[in-house]
Parts: sequence; structure tokens; C-alpha cells
Amino acid sequence: MALTTSLQNYLSSSLISASGNAATTANKPPRSSMITSVRMRHWAVHAAAPDTTTASVEGFEEGVLVRPNWSGETPLSRLVAALISFKPLYSLLKLGARQVFISTAEKKNIPWREMTKEILESEVYKELESIQNNSLVYPDCNFLSFFPMHFCLHSCLCKFNDRVAIHFTDYLNPFHAYDEGNLTWLAAAEAEPATMSMAMRAIPDASSVDEANEIMRGNWIRAIEQHHITYSGTSTVRDVLDIGCSVGVSTGYLADKFPMAKVTGLDLSPYFLAVAQYKAKRGLPRKYPIRWIHANGEDTGLPAKSFDIVSISYVFHECPTRAIVNIVNEAFRLLRPGGTLALTDNSPKSKILQELSPVLFTLMKSTEPFLDEYYLTDVEETMRKAGFVNIKSLLTDPRHMTTTATVPQ
Ligand SMILES: C[S@@+](CC[C@H](N)C(=O)[O-])C[C@H]1O[C@@H](n2cnc3c(N)ncnc32)[C@H](O)[C@@H]1O
Repeated sequence: MALTTSLQNYLSSSLISASGNAATTANKPPRSSMITSVRMRHWAVHAAAPDTTTASVEGFEEGVLVRPNWSGETPLSRLVAALISFKPLYSLLKLGARQVFISTAEKKNIPWREMTKEILESEVYKELESIQNNSLVYPDCNFLSFFPMHFCLHSCLCKFNDRVAIHFTDYLNPFHAYDEGNLTWLAAAEAEPATMSMAMRAIPDASSVDEANEIMRGNWIRAIEQHHITYSGTSTVRDVLDIGCSVGVSTGYLADKFPMAKVTGLDLSPYFLAVAQYKAKRGLPRKYPIRWIHANGEDTGLPAKSFDIVSISYVFHECPTRAIVNIVNEAFRLLRPGGTLALTDNSPKSKILQELSPVLFTLMKSTEPFLDEYYLTDVEETMRKAGFVNIKSLLTDPRHMTTTATVPQ
């Protein structure tokens, strides 16, 4: 029961305040002035030194550690793992977590249930056939979520084991429960409100999702543009790839930023892609409609040197190190000389993440089976080994870093 309460507190605190720590929210300046100042501080620093050769993280506050102390296996994480392996407790936590997650989002004016219902009652199912690549071989289980509470509500995409085979043959049933696996229409329908919750968690003082996205997504996309202009030798962007595009939110931002480019969204989940395609068809027409591809980012099958920008946002914390390395190598193969790779995800250097209490951090890890591997993987070194140069990391909001790099000319 105490663990349930801790988990629910964790959810509420992490969704309501990204600090997860009351002390850090004391004596804050008024919300609007804080948002303006963090945004301007970040960009003033970035604009002042656009072509420095050392990787830097500036603007938002870094902690003193290289990564949170509670990364890696600890006695506490072993205890939590043992507790949640007890099925009745796990079910209780999952139920509570889900309810808290939805109600917290709705308190922040994210119409979670309404958005989900709208997708589930739509014609989205018709999109699956044109999206799904039936010959795709899934990697070994990349991500299983213990609770459907994280912003992405992960899919379980394993080799064709019985569980996934059931979902594939039974995909027209729109009401798979998370209990039965996450490669479902429900996960796909909830992905967008969950993404909105992530933005509100990253920028807890924002008055609306739009304002939160303006900072979180705005800083990310400007970091990509700035890097490309500085290092590619040209500002021309003809082709953009979004690996792990989910339901197409990040892909939409990329397409808006580079309207003259052909933009491709690629994901392992055909359900997420079906939602992405369904929503794109109903959005404003684009000169080049976004192309959606059901494939593995580790081995896309797309032609070499065919993109100017490859973006991978909020994907790696869900991946084992093996997948991270393979995706970075694949991005190197796909980019043209001078092309830009942009990764965005949790920053191990984020002060807020480093200051989460051990219990909250461990609970968070217990919902994310590869979070530890992600924190322990040196993403910049992985990029360097793949052959990238001009590797720069920047905290683009209090929780997330954007790392950009170039394929040598
Ligand atoms: C958190 S979501 C991404 C959100 C989205 N990029 C955004 O910024 O809103 C992570 C996505 O990565 C996808 N994914 C994970 N591993 C992948 C892989 N090896 N290849 C392609 N997609 C992958 C998942 O299916 C999921 O849709």
C-alpha cells in the first residue's frame, strides 16, 4: 500500500511539477516571466556560440553529476523489482497509475478520454492495411511497459511470439486492454494526449500545452536547424527522416519547419503509424505529404545517403544499448555527407532528474525496463564511433537534451 501511495505521489508530482522536489519550486519567479527568461537565456547562449567545437549543455540547469546516482542496479531497484513481480500488487499499481495518469492530464486541460474516444470511434482502422509491413521481423523485445503510465505508453514489439501474433491477427479489435499487451489501438489512440502530458511535465509552469510545446519542441527544432545551417555547408533540406515517429507529432513539427522537404515518419508500430496517417490526412494539405513507413530503425531498408536530417526523439530511453548503437549506425548510413543527426531524450545531466528522490527515480525505472541502459550508454561516444563529427549536446528543456551531429563531408 505504501508503495502504491509512493507511486501515485510520484505520478502526481512528476506530472504536476517536473522538479519532483518541493524545495526547488520555492521562491520561483512568476510563471510567465520564468518561461520567457528560460527561453531567452537558452537562445542567447546558443546564438552567441553557434560554432564552438566542444560539446556543451547550456541554458537550463545541469546537476553536478554525470548521471543520476540511482542509475544502474541498486539494492532499492532490486527490492522494487521483487515487489512488482508479485502479480496482485502489480495489477493494483497498474490500475492506480493509469487512473492518476489520466486524471492528472485532464486537470492540466488535456482532454485525454475525449481524444482517445475520438480516435477509437473513427475510421482509423482502415489505415492499417496500407501501413503494415507484414514481412517486418521485429527485434527482440525492445520495450515492455510495466504500467501504462509513461507518456508514450509503449508497445511490446517482440519477435513473432504468441502474444504479438495474437495482436497482429486480431488487430481489427479496437479494445485490446493494456493487460493483454501494448501493441494496441488503445495505446495508439492515447499516444497523443500522453505526448501532451510529457510536454506539461517538461515545462510545468506553462499555462497550456501549446505554451509547453512552444518551449520543448521549439527549442528542439531550432537546435536542429541551427546545427544544420552551421555545419552542413548548406541550408537546403530536401529529405528528413523521423525514426520512432509514433503517431506523428514530432514528424509534424519537422514537416512544418522544413516545408520544402520530403518528410518520412518511420516506426515499429503499425497502430501508431495508422493514427499518424489518419490524422495527417485530416490536417492541412502539404506540398509534400508525409510518407509513413512501418520498419525497424535499426535496419530500415531505405537507400544509403538519402536524407539531409535524421531525427530520433524520445526513442532511446526505451531501447537497449544494442538498438541505440544500431539506430545511430543506420542513421549514419542514411545521411548524406554534411547531413545532421538529432537525438532528443531524457538528459542524464538534468538537475531535475538528478534530484528526484531515490524512491521516485527507482519507481520511474521500474516502469521503463531500458531506462538504466539508456542512462549508462554514452550517446555522444556512440555517435563518435559511428563516424559523426561536430557532436553537440544542449539541454533544450529542463529534463531533455538534444544532441546534434554531422556526417563528414
Ligand atoms: C516515445 S515514442 C516517440 C515519440 C515521438 N518521436 C515524439 O517525439 O513525439 C517512441 C517510439 O519509438 C518507436 N520505436 C522504438 N524502437 C524502435 C525501432 N527500433 N524502430 C522504429 N521505431 C521504434 C516506438 O514504437 C514508439 O512509437
